Amino acid sequence: MSEATSAIEVCIAGTGSYVPEKILTNAELAVLVDTSDEWIVSRTGIKERRIAAEGEFTSHMATHAARRALEQAGMVAEDIELIIVATITPDTPTPATACYVQQALGANNAVAFDISAACSGFLYAMKISKRLISDGAFKNALIIGAEKLSAVTNWDDRTTCVLFGDGAGAAVLRRAEPGEGSILATEMGTDGNLTHLLNIPGGGTACPITAKNANDHLQTLTMMGKEVFKHAVNRMKEAAEKVISRAGLHPEDIACVIPHQANLRIIDAIADRLAVPNERVFVNLDKYGNTSAAAVAIALDEANRTGAFKRGDNIVLVVFGAGLTWAAAAIRW
Ligand code: COA
Repeated sequence: MSEATSAIEVCIAGTGSYVPEKILTNAELAVLVDTSDEWIVSRTGIKERRIAAEGEFTSHMATHAARRALEQAGMVAEDIELIIVATITPDTPTPATACYVQQALGANNAVAFDISAACSGFLYAMKISKRLISDGAFKNALIIGAEKLSAVTNWDDRTTCVLFGDGAGAAVLRRAEPGEGSILATEMGTDGNLTHLLNIPGGGTACPITAKNANDHLQTLTMMGKEVFKHAVNRMKEAAEKVISRAGLHPEDIACVIPHQANLRIIDAIADRLAVPNERVFVNLDKYGNTSAAAVAIALDEANRTGAFKRGDNIVLVVFGAGLTWAAAAIRW
């Protein structure tokens, strides 16, 4: 799905992120399940991940990240007109996690809702809010990717528990002033024929949580890793190419590619296929693992704050997740 060009340009005015204090290393995981630091690092690139405290919910992490994004944008919570939280691990099935975030921030003038698009959620939220701002419906938006995946991880399953972590990332979008950067092009897609490759089978109306279902770990993430891997590489490459070309750019014009942080081998394969050198691809999954909707948002904030790109640079964000879903954005910073 692509967008037509619109008169009102939309920029990213600030980014923020938050990860919980507790670090879970590969060595610690090797005590829980039959795995090793060597296996996890060589197959995924992940060295450690963050785990939220028991009383620390998705909305708490989202709120911390949001405060940092607002501060960088030079805005206060009351300025915000729209809050979208992308998550598959909401505090409660209803109301939306975005409502808790609105309350915690005191963003009393904002409309708030969640979207569920797994690891692609942050860029889905970016495209939706960009359109709503450029159509004139809202002046700005706070978009957040936040997950407490540790709550939906099967800690007995070595094929999945080594992959995931907790955290949140946020960005403030607003109308761009003349001379400021802008979101140049966005892309998103879905293939609902492949829902079975990556899902949480229990906890919804199809498979309500019962004592037996919980005992069988049906409320946790399951994945056919090899199949997901193939689709991830192909879809992310295609989506990135689309936004680069739609923005009138070429791979050599891109200062920084920020991909979904799931597996270093997937990231390397995409960089290779896009012909973007590895040093222009931002990676932080070694520290956090895959934090689903939060991953690209945390990476964007870290890349922004560590100077991986500067004002005027072109950057590309690209993501992939359950659904299957995928999305990309080309941005002039
Ligand atoms: N430690 C040690 N051995 C493990 C292991 C672990 N944590 N997890 C799996 N294994 C074993 C398997 O049991 C298998 O053993 P076998 O050959 O005796 O059956 C062997 O390692 C290879 O497993 P396989 O699943 O083929 O490994 P892989 O190279 O495909 O890597 C993933 C597994 C999950 C890391 C990889 O498929 C992947 O990253 N997929 C995409 C995941 C992803 O991006 N998901 C999120 C998208 S949003």
